Amino acid sequence: CGIVGYVGTRDSVGVLLGGLKRLEYRGYDSAGVAVIGGDGELRTAKKAGKLSALQEELAQHPLASGTTGIGHTRWATHGGPTDENAHPHLGDDGKLALIHNGIIENFAELKAELLAQGVEFDSETDTEVVAKLLGVEYARSRDLRASFRAVLARLHGAFTLLAVHEDEPGVVVAARRNSPLVIGLGDGENFLGSDVAAFIEYTRRAVAIGQDEMVAITPDSVAVTDFAGTPVPFEPFEVQWDASAAEKGGWSSFMLKEITEEPEAVANTLRERIHEGDVFVPELAALGDEVLRDADRIIVVAAGTASYAGLVGTYAIEAWARVPVDVQLAHEFRYRDPIVGPNTLVVSISQSGETMDTLMAVKYARELGARTISICNTQGATIPRESDAALYTHAGPEVAVASTKAFVAQITALYLLGLHLARVKGTLSEVERRAMLDELVAVPEKIRFAIGEHERVAELAHWMGGTSAVLFLGRHVGYPIALEGALKLKELAYIHAEGFAAGELKHGPIALIEPGLPVFVLVPSPRHSEEMHRKVISNIQEIRARGARVIAIAEQADAAVLPFADEVIALPLAGKFFEPLIAVVPLQLFALELATAKGLDVDQPRNLAKSVTVE
Ligand code: G6P
Repeated sequence: CGIVGYVGTRDSVGVLLGGLKRLEYRGYDSAGVAVIGGDGELRTAKKAGKLSALQEELAQHPLASGTTGIGHTRWATHGGPTDENAHPHLGDDGKLALIHNGIIENFAELKAELLAQGVEFDSETDTEVVAKLLGVEYARSRDLRASFRAVLARLHGAFTLLAVHEDEPGVVVAARRNSPLVIGLGDGENFLGSDVAAFIEYTRRAVAIGQDEMVAITPDSVAVTDFAGTPVPFEPFEVQWDASAAEKGGWSSFMLKEITEEPEAVANTLRERIHEGDVFVPELAALGDEVLRDADRIIVVAAGTASYAGLVGTYAIEAWARVPVDVQLAHEFRYRDPIVGPNTLVVSISQSGETMDTLMAVKYARELGARTISICNTQGATIPRESDAALYTHAGPEVAVASTKAFVAQITALYLLGLHLARVKGTLSEVERRAMLDELVAVPEKIRFAIGEHERVAELAHWMGGTSAVLFLGRHVGYPIALEGALKLKELAYIHAEGFAAGELKHGPIALIEPGLPVFVLVPSPRHSEEMHRKVISNIQEIRARGARVIAIAEQADAAVLPFADEVIALPLAGKFFEPLIAVVPLQLFALELATAKGLDVDQPRNLAKSVTVE
């Protein structure tokens, strides 16, 4: 979910709607606002569906303007995406409003207690329970901060909560446990948001709120405390991008804009991490060379696209640093009794830095004694703060729900990690490291070439508009790219898509092949391995023989593939480990174009949210 809060002198409805628009990627099942009007009365508006539904509602029935307010855009957990279940929720007397991101685990027990006291409920949400509880506490203390603290003491689970009360206009209180919350510092005004995008239009000075902390903002003050009310010092940071970076500009979609930003995403992630032709990642140096030298195992924890970036990384890091690496889905890691010791490095990958599954895996890894490194794209996010070291990707804000530029930046960061480890461990010579860095530096230009194939990919996608299934095959580093190609298609075009290791095909999935089925095959360059290339060509023949339509993604000079594929998307030669960074581009574009051909919203696919802050 996305959360915004405002106190100041501007019309709060405008500020809230602007913030919600930029947070809509966090969930778009419903949206709502609560404002304290100039007349001192609390008013709310909420609507199921995307933010545009709320905007229409407000255009027809404007709320009295006021300068204090909170807003919410929802990704449904408890209760379906209806008007009633939309946030804000109100206290019993209708004078206080509350919004929430996360899950209150003990809501049933609290609800039973309130029902016994005669409190009535309008929705099925866990959030309304907190709102009603706050109402009861407020009636007792008539102090918003004190009653909020009393409620916080009773909650289990994960939450960011924001509340306002009409008897205390000009104050927004907020708290967080395991869900994100940042403050935007203004001049005579202050902001709250799930992330800085909420207020980037007005200020780039931000404060990340820590775990189990509460904040009260007024137009001229910001007070951060722990849940007991003890003041906590805070340090503002400067957001390194401006509002235009998170705007669509003239692009048809954020996703297309973000794909075209991939060359910069890679280049910016490399910047300042290569010195005199060798790799030097200062953030890793801070961890201490000894820790890296002694690392005898790496476990990557991540979810979704980030986990596929991790899978790509395993091949290179193992080859370069000679340390075993495996990827575990963050939500599985915790429940498998993982083997983690003091020499285990747990590397998390998360674009948002807020994915709850990944956060919990990192916390668990620390409990088990592992050293943790976070690869993250969002300054001040929770996961890097909870880790021993943070290696930021500099892809810039990613808004489209389907991750694209963050993915290539994550692979780049993993490669820097692998080369840094190889230097510390002495497993690659300086010449070898330099050769790999040269390859990395050449990636952005090759991605540009791949983006240049957009039109051809679009033609293919439009021609396949009616297809109901697509398969993707790859070997070695091409295998995770096959998985990612399939995931993109599922997410965006709602098509059944599967990625397989090409060698696995004959062990089962080949039964799926029927005449006309489109199959994308990632063909490794024969210049890296004749043998692997030959095997992939054999796989193509096996599926061709059964009537599949083969679309090969291959190196330009690879003439051997031409007679066997129905279509070839030709890409520039890249080193063995670097092909995925280029080959993924046509697959991202393909998913985008197929979804567009089906008339779907590529930036906000159904049922998804970009940042999933529940487990
Ligand atoms: C969600 C998104 C995916 C994303 C995954 C991990 O499920 O829909 O696109 O890959 O979370 O997100 P993260 O922010 O941790 O990289």
